[in-house]
Amino acid sequence: MTVQTVLFLVFMTMVYNGLGIGVNWGTQATNQLPAEKVVKMLMDNGFDKLKLFDADEKILSALRGTDIEVMLAIPNKMLQKMSEDPGAADSWVDANVTSYTYNGGVNIKYVAVGNEPFLTAYNGSYLQCTLPALKNIQRALNHAGFGNKIKVTVPFNADIYFSPNSNPVPSAGDFRPELRDPTIEIIQFLYVNNAPFTVNSYPFLSLYYGDDYFPVDYAFFDGANKPVRDGDLLYTNVFDANLDTLFSAMSRAGYPDMQIIVGEVGWPTDGEENANIQNAKRFNQGLLRHAISGNGTPLRKGVIDIYLFSLIDENAKSVAPGSFERHWGIFEYDGKPKYELDLSGLQQDKGLVPVEDVKYLPKRWCVLNPHARDLEDLADNIDYACSISDCTVLGYGSSCNHLSLKGNASYAFNMYYQVHDQQSWDCDFSGLAVVTDEDPSDENCPFPVMIAYGSSLLRHGGVSDTLVKIVGGYMLVVFLLYLSIGDLHVH
Ligand SMILES: *[C@@H]1O[C@H](CO)[C@@H](O)[C@H](O)[C@H]1NC(C)=O
Ligand SMILES: *[C@@H]1O[C@H](CO)[C@@H](O)[C@H](O)[C@H]1NC(C)=O
Ligand SMILES: *[C@@H]1O[C@H](CO)[C@@H](O)[C@H](O)[C@H]1NC(C)=O
Repeated sequence: MTVQTVLFLVFMTMVYNGLGIGVNWGTQATNQLPAEKVVKMLMDNGFDKLKLFDADEKILSALRGTDIEVMLAIPNKMLQKMSEDPGAADSWVDANVTSYTYNGGVNIKYVAVGNEPFLTAYNGSYLQCTLPALKNIQRALNHAGFGNKIKVTVPFNADIYFSPNSNPVPSAGDFRPELRDPTIEIIQFLYVNNAPFTVNSYPFLSLYYGDDYFPVDYAFFDGANKPVRDGDLLYTNVFDANLDTLFSAMSRAGYPDMQIIVGEVGWPTDGEENANIQNAKRFNQGLLRHAISGNGTPLRKGVIDIYLFSLIDENAKSVAPGSFERHWGIFEYDGKPKYELDLSGLQQDKGLVPVEDVKYLPKRWCVLNPHARDLEDLADNIDYACSISDCTVLGYGSSCNHLSLKGNASYAFNMYYQVHDQQSWDCDFSGLAVVTDEDPSDENCPFPVMIAYGSSLLRHGGVSDTLVKIVGGYMLVVFLLYLSIGDLHVH
């Protein structure tokens, strides 16, 4: 055997052992691509692992008969019930795990209980119920006979641990004092059940929220000009530093060999100055190469188990954290790849395969009527259109920020019209708007035509769940009455 063959076999063995590349599939979008088409695309691209935010029936049905390893999730809003009622946990496992786990069914590997339940924004609402819910789900899995095959976990936000300002190095890492006890109890439970700890890691947010002195190259994987020294160890990227802070906190708590999954990691492409295609490609490609290489972090060697965030843009996500929230996808809303990404990490400039046979609405746009005279109400109409669609590319540092006020109006009217499936009465705006078949896009700012898979804004009619979630910074007050914080997927 040649050296290449041996290396190839070693590599294939790693992939076979479930150490391939995972991706998060979130569905907070007005118009959804058919699940079967997306699943085919996942297989065409060789994604081995998929992480979901609930247990969507359409997605699970489409996954039947594939080898893709799946992490299901129980949303935060169900934690209280799961913690109080073992019967609810049994029913959940019955409906969402047992019914898909058979020969030729879905390869369910993990159940995530909650999503970042200890996030500060939740004010401790889930501090008490997360562990009992976790225990009830584990019990239900054991009952159903899946205790060994399917593992529970809890995806945590990375700021449940930290290094003190007085000694800001990874080896000083520990859990936040106010979260230490509940976190360590969960770790202990996971540990004895042979289940992994999951953490979401966002170097982009370190750059975004960091001060002006946060070195940009420290967010990426190309080597930093000023590495951070921690004893004998050198850190050239914040991703490794962050993971080693967690490893140190784990060791301090007595769990030095805890299995860790990076449940979300990625880079957005729009909505903020550092969120663009070049940076996203640079980050994700560097990350994949690094994760697969086996070099690990300075504290722990080995392949790093990661799930990219995320698969497809979600135009109905809350923008509370920032406009970039709707632009984390490696793929556009219509399943087109945004940039080339080599998932093997072997540095081949290999393109991603798009979702195939996507159907679009007719090539029609809604724009500002060029003959409109009275523009007094223009701003109000723009605000309204944006509040019920997605104008996050218009803001400062975003791809369409160069548009004029009139360009802004056309963009906003069009987005509103498209997410309402191009219904003619949705292109009016007090007579300011008109339908055109002339593409108003410019080179840097495409005006989308929506995919022809019915909008959830219409399906539910009126103020639906989705509508509540798409409230932007614009008209928050108007919809505040309907806003349910539990529905926000905040990072
Ligand atoms: C299965 O999961 C879905 C999605 O999370 C949820 O809506 C449903 O209630 C679950 N089924 C049961 C019986 O709990
Ligand atoms: C958390 O507390 C803040 C400030 O008291 C409040 O504005 C916010 O609505 C609370 N969030 C939740 C999820 O309870
Ligand atoms: C277009 O809209 C964006 C977002 O609201 C705003 O920042 C920008 O200033 C607007 N442009 C003009 C010329 O009004």
